[in-house]
Amino acid sequence: MNQIKVFSPATVANVSCGYDAMGFALETLGDEMIFTKTNTKEVVISKIEGANLPYEVHKNVAGVVAKLMLKESNANFGLDIQIFKNFKPGSGLGSSAASASGTAFAVNTLLNNKYSNLELTQFAMQGEVAACGSAIADNVAAAIYGGFILVRSYEPLDIVSIPIPTNLIATIIHPQIEIKTEDARKVVPKQIDTNTAIAQWANVGGLISGLYSKDFDLIGRSLVDLVAEPNRKALIPLFDDVKHVAISVGALGAGISGSGPSIFALSKNLETAKKVEVAMDTVYKNSGIDYSTYVSHISKTGIRIL
Ligand code: HSE
Repeated sequence: MNQIKVFSPATVANVSCGYDAMGFALETLGDEMIFTKTNTKEVVISKIEGANLPYEVHKNVAGVVAKLMLKESNANFGLDIQIFKNFKPGSGLGSSAASASGTAFAVNTLLNNKYSNLELTQFAMQGEVAACGSAIADNVAAAIYGGFILVRSYEPLDIVSIPIPTNLIATIIHPQIEIKTEDARKVVPKQIDTNTAIAQWANVGGLISGLYSKDFDLIGRSLVDLVAEPNRKALIPLFDDVKHVAISVGALGAGISGSGPSIFALSKNLETAKKVEVAMDTVYKNSGIDYSTYVSHISKTGIRIL
């Protein structure tokens, strides 16, 4: 195989109570990337459409991950990379993660699947370091494993796939303001008190249990974030209004997608998810802020070959 084209999904990290520890992949929204083997042993980014990102390999997360993997594997080829972004960096939908994990997956395919999903996640996390300074796994693991994932441990890295009800649907609103993950991480407290920690990990347990048992009410009750959301929501115009209307028309719960500004809601069927989209739209339409909305199943496969 000399060339591969992949779809790498947008992802919702944290999922309210699971800061840096949970995420899921979207079915419909994502980037496309084309990787072509070359004889030079160099990595070149020859095309970027849809976003203003650096072509310099060491500044672009795709370039960083590709170079690292070619070096680690002692590959006898170089790569030409083309990136077609369908959602913007700084959206809270895992834009850098889509590039990093799409690259890890594609390079691995060109290396005849030398590496496991866990190893691909570790490579892709180095792309996250390049993007925001932190080796975060929640977005990249969701893209690589697909579905809903739990980062049970960072050291050693342990990713657990969590089964989800098939009719669980996400609605997203993406206000077109950019929030840099690096900045959004600075407002999350470095320490929390024990009572807050107890409530947070109890909700993580509740959410995981609700996903396993397809108990939609329990899922909804558990979509509570006492750690990141109270501190980050001030960065997102109309956050409380969007969350309130989403829940009032039937969403199980809503919260900040990753580091924002996107806001996600989960619903137990497509009809409700579409009502939630209309409700979110109503809040934003006179705001003077551009925005996009999406309704999507949770992607079972994550990254896929096109
Ligand atoms: N868990 C990360 C955060 C996701 O909330 O900062 C952003 O990449």
